[in-house]
Formats: sequence, structure tokens, C-alpha cells
Amino acid sequence: MSGRNPADRNLTWHAGAVDDDARRKNLGQAGATVWFTGLSGSGKSTVAVAVEKKLLDAGRHACRLDGDNVRHGLCADLGFAAADRDENIRRIGEAARLFADAGLVCLCSFVSPYRAARDRVRAIHAAADSDRPARPFFEVHVDVPVDVAESRDPKGLYAKARRGEIPEFTGVSAPFEAPESPELHLPTHELSLDDSADAVVKMLEAAGLFD
Ligand code: ADX
Repeated sequence: MSGRNPADRNLTWHAGAVDDDARRKNLGQAGATVWFTGLSGSGKSTVAVAVEKKLLDAGRHACRLDGDNVRHGLCADLGFAAADRDENIRRIGEAARLFADAGLVCLCSFVSPYRAARDRVRAIHAAADSDRPARPFFEVHVDVPVDVAESRDPKGLYAKARRGEIPEFTGVSAPFEAPESPELHLPTHELSLDDSADAVVKMLEAAGLFD
């Protein structure tokens, strides 16, 4: 494969005829990505579902990308070794950025246990040129101790991992690198679901995403 530089691959960015202001006027909001990271069973998907509902009920435009769902299709070829997880997160990060470019609030729930991979997604959103401005990126640490996630074990996966039936299971036999400075910290074992979802919506409102 030739280099990653698009120019070396005979690729040229094709500018659109709709700028950000026109898109915002049309939608009444700016696009952004909310990245929920945390252990399996921490509540990432549950909070994202609640946030999506609140936003849609308020007339906002949002969508969800979820670990288990995305691995049914876009990332069906990937497993859970570190390199596969990195590629999983890279692909989702690029997809989320496209949704944010389109003006949606893209709610992403992925274990995403590696700090460097999450930082790359942040960098994908920070990349900007005249035709494609940077997009807001919010990292949300859905933070519960392993024993809490394990006691919930909604899919029975911790039990399987403890029996040695799932290799490299995050929190049991593979690491989770906690964010150092997330935009929001949600200890879901200490907050109600409604309060967690409200905290996310308030964060987005405070950032000026909505007209
Ligand atoms: S990530 O590490 O690449 O970000 P992702 O969020 O897509 O993971 O998928 C995690 C989901 O896959 C978990 O919620 C769980 O249902 C399932 N899963 C299966 N095997 C593993 C594993 N080894 N570690 C973590 N989650 C796993």
C-alpha cells in the first residue's frame, strides 16, 4: 500500500456547496461527538439511549453508535486483541466525525479501553481545514468499579470471562486505561439514569451546540 498521504494516492478533497452556517440554520444545531468510554456493564449504552431520547424529544438531531451493534456490521471482521480494538475505535471515530460533519450529535458507546486510541479519535475531530472545520468532541467516562460492573453482568460475560471462556476481557484479563481529563465523569452507580443523561445534555447545551 502506498503512503497515508492522500496526495500520494491521487486523492483530492471535494468541497461541498453547503457550509456550516447553512447547515446549522437548517438543523438548528451544530454537530458533535459524545464518546462514552467504560467497562462492559458500566452503563454506556443505557446512558446513550436515554440521552438520545431526551435530545429527540427536545427536537434535536442525534444518532447512536454502539459497540455490540457496530460489531454486527461495520466492524464484524474485528475481534478484541489490542490491534483489532484500535482499528475498531479508529473506524468508529471516522464514522462519528462524518455524522458530526452532517450536523448530528453522535453518541458513541464503546469500551475503548486504550487511552491512545481515544486520543486519536479526539484528534480526528480536531483536524480542520477551510472546508471541514473541527468538530466538538466530548469524552465521557462512565465509571464504575469492576466489582459493580461484574455484579450487574447484564450479558453474563464476566462470569464467562472468569471461567476463562472469553480471552482478553476488559477488567478481568485485559486493561482499562481510565481517561485522565474527560469532559464529564459519570459514576453511574452513584447517579440515577435520569441525572446521568441530564448531565450529558447540560454539557452539550453549555457548549452552545443548540440554537
Ligand atoms: S472495544 O474494546 O473495541 O471498544 P466494543 O465496545 O466494540 O469494545 O465492544 C465491547 C462489547 O463486546 C462488550 O460490551 C461485550 O458485550 C462484548 N465483548 C466480547 N468480548 C469482549 C472482550 N474480550 N472484552 C470486552 N468486551 C467484549
